[in-house]
Amino acid sequence: MPAIVIVGAQWGDEGKGKATDQLGESVDYCVRYQGGNNAGHTIVVDGEKYALHLLPSGILTPGCIPVIGNGVVIDAGVLLDEMKALADRGVDTSRLLISANAHLISSYHSTIDKVSERFLGKNKIGTTGRGIGPAYADKISRLGIRVGDLFDEKILRQKLEGALDQKNHLLVKVYNRRAIGVDDILIEFKGYAEALRPYVCDTSRVVNAALDAGQTVVFEGAQATLLDVDHGTYPFVTSSSATAGGACTGSGIPPNRIDRVVAVLKAYTTRVGEGPFPTEQHDAVGERLRETGGEFGTTTGRPRRCGWFDAVIGRYAARVNGVTDFVLTKLDVLTGLERVPVCVAYDVDGVRHDEMPMTQTDFHHATPVYEQLPGWSEDIRGARELADLPANARAYVRTLEDMVGRRISVVGVGPGRDESVVLHDLL
Ligand code: GDP
Ligand code: IMO
Ligand code: MG
Repeated sequence: MPAIVIVGAQWGDEGKGKATDQLGESVDYCVRYQGGNNAGHTIVVDGEKYALHLLPSGILTPGCIPVIGNGVVIDAGVLLDEMKALADRGVDTSRLLISANAHLISSYHSTIDKVSERFLGKNKIGTTGRGIGPAYADKISRLGIRVGDLFDEKILRQKLEGALDQKNHLLVKVYNRRAIGVDDILIEFKGYAEALRPYVCDTSRVVNAALDAGQTVVFEGAQATLLDVDHGTYPFVTSSSATAGGACTGSGIPPNRIDRVVAVLKAYTTRVGEGPFPTEQHDAVGERLRETGGEFGTTTGRPRRCGWFDAVIGRYAARVNGVTDFVLTKLDVLTGLERVPVCVAYDVDGVRHDEMPMTQTDFHHATPVYEQLPGWSEDIRGARELADLPANARAYVRTLEDMVGRRISVVGVGPGRDESVVLHDLL
């Protein structure tokens, strides 16, 4: 099973970082293929916490080669800071490979991200303010600057002039901001060119060659299914293809190379930012999930909105990603509840929907149809085999598995690298 894609099944922060890290030393390459430093992947190794934003989680595994694919948008300043912070903690970052075709985020992207959110007012998306949307918009508008452009100053200046001409009109005339000078950005980018040069290569070629040689490659997704720009709860989404299909376009490997798609699914649901969330709990119940689960954003520190597990979303994630295995995370957070409500379908204006409603309007009107599952009170963080889990926790896992229609292969019972019950090996 050499090529395995890991995606988020819900609205992000399911524990993709931990799931990727857990695959361990048998992974030869770990490839990020979309998103940017809007992601926050927390990994706990021997009690030490690492928060990664742009670097693939494989960076923490000696021997694994981390790759930033063409589909990622890179804030070079953030990347270099992240590399330095890890190096200061003794992590070897010298193996990193960066695609020459990945697009760069510049300061004007984050400025536009923030001012356009302000202009949206109550219709804002609740973005991370990292310039992700404007950088992807430039890519699609063919106004983007790519990593490879850093190495040709003439072209870089030409492209920046083109991009800034348009941006400055927007900033000055619409948003009442100061214009940005080409030279300011050029100076910033020239510094990055030197620092990044050793890592830049044709990553599609490297990754395809690795697969040809029978090596194991993990494609690590950021964000998640319902934040995908096509398949998510548009417009309350991120601006990239966070579903499994994005692994191909975002890294330059063909679809027929993918052997396995693993979706990470939290035992309840969280969301950061605005947008519909049928099972959200606003009162003490949501507060309890947030406190027990430590549900505060890794990137922005914002409290995550919390609610019950939603099987409609699980089934949808299985379908659009072609999920072969689910990793169910944070089961330990549910310990101590007498009953655990699980959403099995939606009621939309009196009509039952077992699958995701077709329109945005229907999804906004969806109210959950709950089934109450019996809870458990025993501490499960020490569980390493299915038999170690109390009967009701086992039943919770099996019931969810039936509801989402694909096998649950790993169950997370704590944040630590070893705090899991493995039912089926993923590699
Ligand atoms: P990602 O963005 O999908 O990688 O997820 P985040 O790292 O943003 O959020 C998941 C959080 O849950 C992190 O703080 C993890 O350390 C933690 N975590 C992951 N799996 C488990 C688990 O099974 N139990 C508990 N209690 N925490 C977990
Ligand atoms: P990981 O990889 C949770 C959300 C933002 C906002 C929307 C658009 O850690 O799961 P953006 O800045 O991307 O334009 O914001 O997407 N969002 C995330 N929510 N986890 C993430 O990443 C997210 N990345 C973006 O909160 O609602
Ligand atoms: Mg996260």
